Amino acid sequence: MNRYTLVGPFSQILPMTALPLKGALSDEELPIIDDGGLLLSGNSIHSIGPYKDLLSSPEADTATKVELEGKHVAMPGIVDAHTHICFAGSRARDYAMRNAGKSYLDIAREGGGIWDTVTRTRKATEEELVKGIIKRAKRHLKNGTTTIEVKSGYGLSVEHEMKMMKAIAKANTQTSQDLIPTCLAAHIPPKDWQTEVMDYLNRIVDDLLVDVKKQGLSNRVDIFIEEGAFSSGEAIAYLSRVAEMGFDITVHADQFSTGGSEIAVKFGALSADHLEASTEKEIELLAASDVIATALPGASLGLGCPFTPARRLLDAGGALAIASDHNPGSAPMGDLLTQAAILGAFEKLSNAEVLAGITYRAAAALNLSDRGRLESGNLADLAVFHTDNYNEILYNQGDLKPCMVWKSGQLVYDKHNNLSK
Ligand code: NIG
Ligand code: FE
Repeated sequence: MNRYTLVGPFSQILPMTALPLKGALSDEELPIIDDGGLLLSGNSIHSIGPYKDLLSSPEADTATKVELEGKHVAMPGIVDAHTHICFAGSRARDYAMRNAGKSYLDIAREGGGIWDTVTRTRKATEEELVKGIIKRAKRHLKNGTTTIEVKSGYGLSVEHEMKMMKAIAKANTQTSQDLIPTCLAAHIPPKDWQTEVMDYLNRIVDDLLVDVKKQGLSNRVDIFIEEGAFSSGEAIAYLSRVAEMGFDITVHADQFSTGGSEIAVKFGALSADHLEASTEKEIELLAASDVIATALPGASLGLGCPFTPARRLLDAGGALAIASDHNPGSAPMGDLLTQAAILGAFEKLSNAEVLAGITYRAAAALNLSDRGRLESGNLADLAVFHTDNYNEILYNQGDLKPCMVWKSGQLVYDKHNNLSK
Protein backbone atom coordinates (compact mmCIF):
# COMPACT_ATOMS: atom_id res chain seq x y z
CA MET A 1 0.00 0.00 0.00
CA ASN A 2 1.19 3.52 -0.81
CA ARG A 3 2.37 5.59 2.08
CA TYR A 4 1.30 8.89 0.59
CA THR A 5 -1.98 10.28 -0.65
CA LEU A 6 -2.07 13.44 -2.72
CA VAL A 7 -5.42 15.30 -2.64
CA GLY A 8 -6.24 18.27 -4.84
CA PRO A 9 -6.34 20.60 -6.57
CA PHE A 10 -8.48 22.72 -4.26
CA SER A 11 -9.66 26.15 -5.43
CA GLN A 12 -8.73 27.36 -1.95
CA ILE A 13 -7.27 25.81 1.18
CA LEU A 14 -7.76 27.62 4.49
CA PRO A 15 -4.93 26.27 6.62
CA MET A 16 -5.83 28.50 9.64
CA THR A 17 -2.10 28.74 10.37
CA ALA A 18 -0.09 31.70 11.70
CA LEU A 19 -3.12 33.18 13.45
CA PRO A 20 -3.12 34.15 17.13
CA LEU A 21 -4.97 32.16 19.78
CA LYS A 22 -6.46 35.28 21.31
CA GLY A 23 -8.15 38.44 20.14
CA ALA A 24 -9.96 39.85 17.12
CA LEU A 25 -9.13 38.62 13.61
CA SER A 26 -9.80 40.28 10.28
CA ASP A 27 -10.53 38.32 7.13
CA GLU A 28 -7.46 39.91 5.54
CA GLU A 29 -5.29 38.02 8.03
CA LEU A 30 -6.63 34.65 6.90
CA PRO A 31 -4.00 32.74 4.93
CA ILE A 32 -5.41 31.23 1.72
CA ILE A 33 -3.63 28.79 -0.57
CA ASP A 34 -5.06 29.11 -4.07
CA ASP A 35 -4.97 25.99 -6.28
CA GLY A 36 -3.66 24.10 -3.31
CA GLY A 37 -2.98 20.49 -2.51
CA LEU A 38 -2.38 18.28 0.49
CA LEU A 39 0.04 15.41 0.67
CA LEU A 40 -1.08 13.03 3.40
CA SER A 41 1.08 10.43 5.06
CA GLY A 42 -0.67 7.85 7.24
CA ASN A 43 -2.98 9.73 9.58
CA SER A 44 -1.27 13.09 9.22
CA ILE A 45 -0.36 15.90 6.86
CA HIS A 46 3.07 15.53 5.26
CA SER A 47 2.96 18.78 3.31
CA ILE A 48 0.59 21.45 2.09
CA GLY A 49 1.08 23.99 -0.67
CA PRO A 50 0.38 24.75 -4.32
CA TYR A 51 -0.92 21.57 -5.97
CA LYS A 52 1.53 21.83 -8.87
CA ASP A 53 4.52 21.91 -6.48
CA LEU A 54 3.26 18.86 -4.59
CA LEU A 55 2.63 17.03 -7.84
CA SER A 56 6.25 17.43 -8.83
CA SER A 57 7.61 16.44 -5.41
CA PRO A 58 9.43 13.06 -5.15
CA GLU A 59 6.75 11.71 -2.77
CA ALA A 60 4.09 12.28 -5.42
CA ASP A 61 5.57 9.54 -7.65
CA THR A 62 4.38 6.79 -5.36
CA ALA A 63 1.38 8.61 -3.87
CA THR A 64 -2.22 7.52 -4.34
CA LYS A 65 -3.79 10.46 -6.11
CA VAL A 66 -7.26 11.73 -5.27
CA GLU A 67 -7.77 14.16 -8.09
CA LEU A 68 -10.63 16.58 -7.61
CA GLU A 69 -12.63 18.01 -10.46
CA GLY A 70 -14.50 21.28 -10.14
CA LYS A 71 -14.59 23.75 -7.27
CA HIS A 72 -13.45 22.70 -3.83
CA VAL A 73 -12.48 24.55 -0.65
CA ALA A 74 -10.72 22.68 2.17
CA MET A 75 -10.56 23.75 5.79
CA PRO A 76 -9.49 21.91 8.95
CA GLY A 77 -11.99 19.32 10.20
CA ILE A 78 -14.35 21.12 12.57
CA VAL A 79 -13.83 20.71 16.32
CA ASP A 80 -16.98 20.78 18.47
CA ALA A 81 -15.59 21.44 21.95
CA HIS A 82 -18.81 21.11 23.99
CA THR A 83 -21.59 18.55 23.55
CA HIS A 84 -23.85 16.35 25.65
CA ILE A 85 -24.66 13.78 22.93
CA CYS A 86 -24.73 10.83 25.35
CA PHE A 87 -28.36 10.76 26.52
CA ALA A 88 -31.69 9.00 26.18
CA GLY A 89 -35.12 10.49 25.52
CA SER A 90 -36.40 13.75 24.12
CA ARG A 91 -37.37 17.01 25.83
CA ALA A 92 -39.72 18.26 23.14
CA ARG A 93 -42.25 18.93 25.90
CA ASP A 94 -39.83 21.27 27.71
CA TYR A 95 -39.25 23.12 24.46
CA ALA A 96 -42.97 23.63 23.92
CA MET A 97 -43.44 24.74 27.56
CA ARG A 98 -40.60 27.24 27.31
CA ASN A 99 -41.98 28.71 24.14
CA ALA A 100 -45.37 28.92 25.84
CA GLY A 101 -43.80 31.11 28.53
CA LYS A 102 -42.19 28.97 31.25
CA SER A 103 -38.54 29.57 32.15
CA TYR A 104 -35.79 26.93 31.94
CA LEU A 105 -35.42 27.04 35.72
CA ASP A 106 -39.21 26.83 36.31
CA ILE A 107 -39.46 23.76 34.09
CA ALA A 108 -36.58 22.16 35.98
CA ARG A 109 -38.33 22.86 39.31
CA GLU A 110 -41.47 21.16 37.96
CA GLY A 111 -39.70 17.90 37.15
CA GLY A 112 -38.67 18.63 33.57
CA GLY A 113 -35.25 19.83 32.59
CA ILE A 114 -32.00 17.99 33.17
CA TRP A 115 -33.53 15.64 35.76
CA ASP A 116 -36.01 14.32 33.21
CA THR A 117 -33.12 13.30 30.96
CA VAL A 118 -31.33 11.78 33.96
CA THR A 119 -34.33 9.53 34.64
CA ARG A 120 -34.39 8.31 31.04
CA THR A 121 -30.63 7.96 30.75
CA ARG A 122 -30.49 5.89 33.94
CA LYS A 123 -33.05 3.50 32.41
CA ALA A 124 -31.04 3.11 29.20
CA THR A 125 -28.46 0.35 28.81
CA GLU A 126 -24.85 1.15 27.98
CA GLU A 127 -25.45 -0.28 24.50
CA GLU A 128 -28.46 1.97 23.92
CA LEU A 129 -26.38 4.99 24.89
CA VAL A 130 -23.59 3.89 22.53
CA LYS A 131 -26.10 3.69 19.67
CA GLY A 132 -27.42 7.18 20.42
CA ILE A 133 -23.93 8.68 20.45
CA ILE A 134 -23.04 7.01 17.13
CA LYS A 135 -26.28 8.20 15.52
CA ARG A 136 -25.62 11.81 16.57
CA ALA A 137 -21.91 11.69 15.71
CA LYS A 138 -22.86 10.62 12.18
CA ARG A 139 -25.01 13.71 11.84
CA HIS A 140 -22.10 15.85 13.02
CA LEU A 141 -19.84 14.19 10.47
CA LYS A 142 -22.03 15.53 7.67
CA ASN A 143 -21.27 19.00 9.03
CA GLY A 144 -17.54 18.40 8.77
CA THR A 145 -16.97 17.79 12.47
CA THR A 146 -14.02 15.46 13.05
CA THR A 147 -13.52 15.94 16.79
CA ILE A 148 -16.40 15.99 19.28
CA GLU A 149 -16.17 16.56 23.01
CA VAL A 150 -18.82 14.44 24.78
CA LYS A 151 -19.88 14.97 28.38
CA SER A 152 -21.47 12.61 30.84
CA GLY A 153 -23.80 14.34 33.32
CA TYR A 154 -27.13 12.57 32.92
CA GLY A 155 -26.27 9.71 35.26
CA LEU A 156 -25.66 11.66 38.46
CA SER A 157 -24.70 8.61 40.50
CA VAL A 158 -21.43 6.72 40.58
CA GLU A 159 -23.00 3.77 38.76
CA HIS A 160 -24.74 5.68 35.99
CA GLU A 161 -21.99 8.24 35.41
CA MET A 162 -19.62 5.29 34.98
CA LYS A 163 -22.07 3.73 32.51
CA MET A 164 -22.02 6.97 30.52
CA MET A 165 -18.22 7.24 30.55
CA LYS A 166 -17.96 3.65 29.31
CA ALA A 167 -20.57 4.29 26.61
CA ILE A 168 -18.58 7.29 25.36
CA ALA A 169 -15.37 5.22 25.30
CA LYS A 170 -17.09 2.41 23.40
CA ALA A 171 -18.71 4.79 20.91
CA ASN A 172 -15.28 6.31 20.33
CA THR A 173 -14.11 2.97 18.90
CA GLN A 174 -17.08 2.88 16.52
CA THR A 175 -17.18 6.44 15.16
CA SER A 176 -14.82 7.87 12.60
CA GLN A 177 -14.44 11.06 14.65
CA ASP A 178 -12.39 11.39 17.83
CA LEU A 179 -14.69 11.66 20.83
CA ILE A 180 -13.11 13.56 23.73
CA PRO A 181 -14.79 12.45 26.97
CA THR A 182 -15.52 14.80 29.88
CA CYS A 183 -16.94 13.83 33.25
CA LEU A 184 -19.86 16.12 34.16
CA ALA A 185 -21.08 14.25 37.24
CA ALA A 186 -21.40 17.77 38.73
CA HIS A 187 -24.17 18.77 36.32
CA ILE A 188 -26.88 19.32 38.97
CA PRO A 189 -27.23 17.89 42.48
CA PRO A 190 -29.18 14.62 42.06
CA LYS A 191 -32.76 14.94 43.31
CA ASP A 192 -32.57 11.54 44.96
CA TRP A 193 -29.42 12.35 46.96
CA GLN A 194 -30.44 12.37 50.61
CA THR A 195 -27.68 14.34 52.36
CA GLU A 196 -25.59 17.49 51.76
CA VAL A 197 -24.59 18.46 48.23
CA MET A 198 -20.93 18.40 49.27
CA ASP A 199 -21.32 14.75 50.28
CA TYR A 200 -22.37 13.99 46.72
CA LEU A 201 -19.41 15.83 45.23
CA ASN A 202 -16.97 14.13 47.59
CA ARG A 203 -18.50 10.77 46.71
CA ILE A 204 -17.95 11.56 43.05
CA VAL A 205 -14.29 12.32 43.66
CA ASP A 206 -13.67 9.29 45.85
CA ASP A 207 -15.72 6.66 44.06
CA LEU A 208 -15.98 7.83 40.47
CA LEU A 209 -13.12 10.12 39.45
CA VAL A 210 -10.51 7.83 40.97
CA ASP A 211 -11.78 5.00 38.75
CA VAL A 212 -12.28 7.24 35.72
CA LYS A 213 -8.63 8.17 36.03
CA LYS A 214 -7.44 4.62 36.70
CA GLN A 215 -9.31 3.27 33.68
CA GLY A 216 -8.21 6.16 31.45
CA LEU A 217 -11.82 7.06 30.68
CA SER A 218 -11.27 10.83 30.79
CA ASN A 219 -8.84 13.52 31.87
CA ARG A 220 -11.42 16.29 31.85
CA VAL A 221 -13.91 17.40 34.51
CA ASP A 222 -16.76 19.90 34.08
CA ILE A 223 -19.15 21.54 36.58
CA PHE A 224 -22.31 23.62 36.08
CA ILE A 225 -22.11 26.64 38.39
CA GLU A 226 -25.55 28.25 38.64
CA GLU A 227 -28.62 28.67 40.82
CA GLY A 228 -30.34 25.27 40.70
CA ALA A 229 -26.99 23.60 39.98
CA PHE A 230 -23.83 24.11 42.10
CA SER A 231 -22.88 27.18 44.14
CA SER A 232 -19.50 28.90 43.84
CA GLY A 233 -18.51 27.56 47.26
CA GLU A 234 -19.35 23.98 46.31
CA ALA A 235 -17.54 24.39 43.01
CA ILE A 236 -14.38 25.69 44.67
CA ALA A 237 -14.30 22.79 47.14
CA TYR A 238 -14.92 20.23 44.36
CA LEU A 239 -12.53 21.71 41.81
CA SER A 240 -9.74 21.95 44.41
CA ARG A 241 -9.87 18.18 44.77
CA VAL A 242 -10.31 17.63 41.03
CA ALA A 243 -7.29 19.83 40.24
CA GLU A 244 -5.20 18.00 42.82
CA MET A 245 -5.93 14.77 40.95
CA GLY A 246 -4.54 16.32 37.78
CA PHE A 247 -7.73 16.61 35.73
CA ASP A 248 -8.13 19.36 33.15
CA ILE A 249 -11.04 21.59 34.14
CA THR A 250 -13.83 23.17 32.14
CA VAL A 251 -16.81 25.06 33.55
CA HIS A 252 -20.43 25.74 32.56
CA ALA A 253 -20.17 29.41 33.51
CA ASP A 254 -22.29 32.58 33.57
CA GLN A 255 -25.23 31.01 31.72
CA PHE A 256 -28.00 32.80 33.64
CA SER A 257 -25.97 34.57 36.36
CA THR A 258 -22.30 35.41 36.87
CA GLY A 259 -19.78 33.69 39.14
CA GLY A 260 -18.69 30.68 37.13
CA SER A 261 -16.18 32.42 34.89
CA GLU A 262 -14.34 33.86 37.88
CA ILE A 263 -13.91 30.33 39.22
CA ALA A 264 -12.79 29.07 35.81
CA VAL A 265 -10.05 31.71 35.79
CA LYS A 266 -9.10 30.98 39.41
CA PHE A 267 -8.57 27.30 38.60
CA GLY A 268 -6.83 27.89 35.26
CA ALA A 269 -9.60 26.01 33.47
CA LEU A 270 -9.11 25.16 29.80
CA SER A 271 -12.41 26.82 29.00
CA ALA A 272 -15.39 28.67 30.42
CA ASP A 273 -18.49 27.84 28.38
CA HIS A 274 -21.85 29.66 27.88
CA LEU A 275 -21.09 33.19 29.24
CA GLU A 276 -24.43 34.59 28.05
CA ALA A 277 -24.72 36.56 31.31
CA SER A 278 -21.10 37.75 31.45
CA THR A 279 -20.68 41.49 32.08
CA GLU A 280 -17.67 43.74 31.39
CA LYS A 281 -16.06 42.50 34.60
CA GLU A 282 -16.13 38.84 33.52
CA ILE A 283 -15.14 39.73 29.95
CA GLU A 284 -12.04 41.56 31.21
CA LEU A 285 -11.18 38.75 33.57
CA LEU A 286 -11.45 36.10 30.85
CA ALA A 287 -9.59 38.18 28.29
CA ALA A 288 -6.67 38.65 30.68
CA SER A 289 -6.47 34.88 31.29
CA ASP A 290 -5.59 31.81 29.22
CA VAL A 291 -9.11 30.42 29.59
CA ILE A 292 -10.86 29.89 26.25
CA ALA A 293 -14.30 31.54 26.21
CA THR A 294 -16.64 29.11 24.49
CA ALA A 295 -19.85 30.51 23.05
CA LEU A 296 -22.77 28.09 22.65
CA PRO A 297 -25.16 29.72 20.18
CA GLY A 298 -27.20 26.49 20.00
CA ALA A 299 -28.24 27.06 23.64
CA SER A 300 -29.21 30.67 22.93
CA LEU A 301 -31.29 29.49 19.97
CA GLY A 302 -32.83 26.62 21.93
CA LEU A 303 -33.72 28.76 24.95
CA GLY A 304 -34.46 31.99 23.11
CA CYS A 305 -31.80 33.75 25.20
CA PRO A 306 -29.22 36.41 24.35
CA PHE A 307 -26.03 35.28 22.65
CA THR A 308 -22.67 35.18 24.41
CA PRO A 309 -21.01 38.61 24.01
CA ALA A 310 -18.55 37.19 21.50
CA ARG A 311 -17.65 40.53 19.89
CA ARG A 312 -16.79 42.13 23.21
CA LEU A 313 -14.79 39.08 24.33
CA LEU A 314 -12.67 39.20 21.18
CA ASP A 315 -12.24 42.97 21.29
CA ALA A 316 -11.10 42.71 24.92
CA GLY A 317 -8.41 40.27 23.70
CA GLY A 318 -10.06 36.98 24.68
CA ALA A 319 -9.86 33.62 22.89
CA LEU A 320 -13.26 32.64 21.49
CA ALA A 321 -14.33 29.11 20.59
CA ILE A 322 -17.81 28.25 19.32
CA ALA A 323 -19.42 24.89 20.12
CA SER A 324 -22.84 23.30 19.61
CA ASP A 325 -23.69 22.31 23.22
CA HIS A 326 -25.79 19.62 21.49
CA ASN A 327 -28.07 18.26 24.23
CA PRO A 328 -31.72 17.20 24.55
CA GLY A 329 -32.74 20.26 26.58
CA SER A 330 -31.26 23.64 25.82
CA ALA A 331 -29.64 22.87 22.45
CA PRO A 332 -31.43 20.13 20.55
CA MET A 333 -30.40 21.28 17.04
CA GLY A 334 -26.77 20.26 17.17
CA ASP A 335 -25.84 21.89 13.87
CA LEU A 336 -22.62 23.74 14.65
CA LEU A 337 -22.04 25.20 11.21
CA THR A 338 -25.49 26.82 11.16
CA GLN A 339 -25.15 28.04 14.73
CA ALA A 340 -21.66 29.50 14.24
CA ALA A 341 -22.83 31.33 11.10
CA ILE A 342 -25.82 32.77 12.98
CA LEU A 343 -23.65 33.86 15.92
CA GLY A 344 -21.37 35.59 13.41
CA ALA A 345 -24.29 37.50 11.93
CA PHE A 346 -25.69 38.61 15.30
CA GLU A 347 -22.38 39.37 17.01
CA LYS A 348 -20.69 40.87 13.95
CA LEU A 349 -17.82 38.43 13.82
CA SER A 350 -15.51 38.24 10.84
CA ASN A 351 -15.52 34.96 8.95
CA ALA A 352 -11.96 34.48 10.21
CA GLU A 353 -13.16 34.75 13.82
CA VAL A 354 -15.98 32.27 13.30
CA LEU A 355 -13.78 29.77 11.48
CA ALA A 356 -11.05 30.12 14.14
CA GLY A 357 -13.73 29.47 16.77
CA ILE A 358 -14.63 26.08 15.30
CA THR A 359 -11.07 24.99 14.43
CA TYR A 360 -7.82 25.80 16.22
CA ARG A 361 -9.33 27.86 19.03
CA ALA A 362 -11.78 25.03 19.75
CA ALA A 363 -8.91 22.53 19.67
CA ALA A 364 -7.11 24.65 22.28
CA ALA A 365 -10.20 24.43 24.50
CA LEU A 366 -9.64 20.65 24.42
CA ASN A 367 -5.88 21.02 24.95
CA LEU A 368 -5.24 19.46 21.53
CA SER A 369 -2.43 20.92 19.45
CA ASP A 370 -2.46 18.30 16.68
CA ARG A 371 -5.58 19.55 14.88
CA GLY A 372 -7.53 22.67 13.98
CA ARG A 373 -4.79 23.89 11.63
CA LEU A 374 -3.70 22.31 8.38
CA GLU A 375 0.06 22.07 8.71
CA SER A 376 2.76 19.50 8.40
CA GLY A 377 2.62 16.94 11.23
CA ASN A 378 -0.97 17.66 12.21
CA LEU A 379 -3.74 15.12 11.80
CA ALA A 380 -5.14 14.97 8.28
CA ASP A 381 -8.64 16.07 9.32
CA LEU A 382 -10.39 17.99 6.55
CA ALA A 383 -13.80 19.40 5.72
CA VAL A 384 -14.17 19.99 1.98
CA PHE A 385 -16.92 22.14 0.46
CA HIS A 386 -18.15 22.31 -3.12
CA THR A 387 -17.35 25.98 -3.80
CA ASP A 388 -14.43 28.09 -4.98
CA ASN A 389 -14.82 30.80 -2.32
CA TYR A 390 -14.56 30.13 1.42
CA ASN A 391 -16.96 33.00 2.16
CA GLU A 392 -19.76 30.82 0.76
CA ILE A 393 -19.45 28.44 3.73
CA LEU A 394 -20.77 30.84 6.38
CA TYR A 395 -22.86 32.85 3.92
CA ASN A 396 -24.98 29.74 3.35
CA GLN A 397 -25.57 29.53 7.13
CA GLY A 398 -25.11 25.79 7.35
CA ASP A 399 -26.98 24.92 4.17
CA LEU A 400 -23.76 24.34 2.24
CA LYS A 401 -22.59 21.06 3.76
CA PRO A 402 -19.21 19.47 3.16
CA CYS A 403 -19.01 17.21 0.13
CA MET A 404 -16.11 15.29 1.68
CA VAL A 405 -14.72 14.77 5.15
CA TRP A 406 -11.33 13.25 5.89
CA LYS A 407 -10.42 12.03 9.37
CA SER A 408 -6.86 11.02 10.23
CA GLY A 409 -5.99 10.59 6.56
CA GLN A 410 -9.07 8.53 5.65
CA LEU A 411 -11.96 9.67 3.50
CA VAL A 412 -14.81 9.00 5.93
CA TYR A 413 -17.61 10.94 4.23
CA ASP A 414 -18.12 11.41 0.52
CA LYS A 415 -21.49 12.91 -0.34
CA HIS A 416 -21.42 11.90 -4.00
CA ASN A 417 -20.47 8.30 -3.36
CA ASN A 418 -22.76 8.14 -0.35
CA LEU A 419 -19.90 7.00 1.84
CA SER A 420 -20.42 7.67 5.56
CA LYS A 421 -18.33 5.64 7.97
O1 NIG B 1 -25.00 23.37 28.57
N1 NIG B 1 -26.46 24.37 31.35
C1 NIG B 1 -26.36 23.23 31.66
N2 NIG B 1 -26.26 22.14 30.91
C2 NIG B 1 -26.63 22.03 29.53
C3 NIG B 1 -28.07 21.76 29.37
C4 NIG B 1 -28.36 20.39 29.56
C5 NIG B 1 -29.81 20.07 29.45
O2 NIG B 1 -30.67 20.97 29.46
O3 NIG B 1 -30.06 18.87 29.37
C6 NIG B 1 -26.20 23.23 28.74
O4 NIG B 1 -27.01 24.03 28.25
FE1 FE C 1 -23.49 22.30 28.08
